[in-house]
Amino acid sequence: AKLRIIGAPSDFGQGRRGVDMGPSAIRYAGLSEKLARLGHDVEDLGNIVVPTPEMHTVKDEKLKYFDEVKAVCENLYREVSRVMEEDAIPIILGGDHSISIGSMAGIAASRRPFGVIWFDAHGDMNTPETTPSGNIHGMPLAVNLGLGHPELIHLGGFAPKVKPENVVLVGIRSIDEDEAKLIRQTGIRAYTMAEIDRMGMAAVMEEAIRIASNQTEGIHLSLDLDSLDPTFAPGVGTPVNGGVTYREGHLAMEILADSGKIRSVDVVEVNPILDIHNQTGNMAVELVESLFGKTVM
Ligand code: ARG
Ligand code: MN
Ligand code: MN
Ligand code: MN
Repeated sequence: AKLRIIGAPSDFGQGRRGVDMGPSAIRYAGLSEKLARLGHDVEDLGNIVVPTPEMHTVKDEKLKYFDEVKAVCENLYREVSRVMEEDAIPIILGGDHSISIGSMAGIAASRRPFGVIWFDAHGDMNTPETTPSGNIHGMPLAVNLGLGHPELIHLGGFAPKVKPENVVLVGIRSIDEDEAKLIRQTGIRAYTMAEIDRMGMAAVMEEAIRIASNQTEGIHLSLDLDSLDPTFAPGVGTPVNGGVTYREGHLAMEILADSGKIRSVDVVEVNPILDIHNQTGNMAVELVESLFGKTVM
């Protein structure tokens, strides 16, 4: 496949320095070389422009760094829509998860319906009304469904980016009280870690793919590295115990690869400052290799 790598080195959605170095860590772990070795046509398009954090301050406590997040997402939106027009698969490297507001706007710009598998310890379904932190990286899935600040929702000039009946959360184990209400109200399918334990990852992914691809032309995977257990991905800003294991993570990617439905990917929340010898950057690359067809033999 035609794979195009785009870096989005932004930490404005989290206010924790270090996640802006995620694209470097993932590239250092050999992403493009390894994907090329699998036989893909790979091109790294470099990073989008991101403002310098030291030059900015928080204005709205319920939407921290709103202007900066919006500017980053507008840049990313333009870059991703260009890649989609070429019929290539964008692989977007974060940065914190707020960048998915831009990536999904770019994917949706083609107006071809798509589904989303949001692989995360968190729901990312907060709004300015429900957020306990004011960090926009806790809001991007809500924004993409049309909930939250109107300027974020309408990025790219249209909303919503995806229908709730095609949205699936996988791996959740840390949800805020009012966020849980929103998840229930929208009716998106949310697989908790408890369900993964009981059903097994294979059954969860088969259902998730069915939901995300029902009357759509493909699936966007938004991969937050904190979905994994911190044992395997310690370099994230908001780690939560009891996560997806090494093999469960790979199994999920392998099943997605077999489905042939992946059209775009975000790889977010890798924070090299909190990491141990780039374990999380390496994990991210390994998972993406499985997603694009790496097998044992
Ligand atoms: N629910 C918390 C919040 O809204 C944590 C969100 C974590 N999100 C993430 N993309 N890591 O602040
Ligand atoms: Mn997330
Ligand atoms: Mn998360
Ligand atoms: Mn985070």
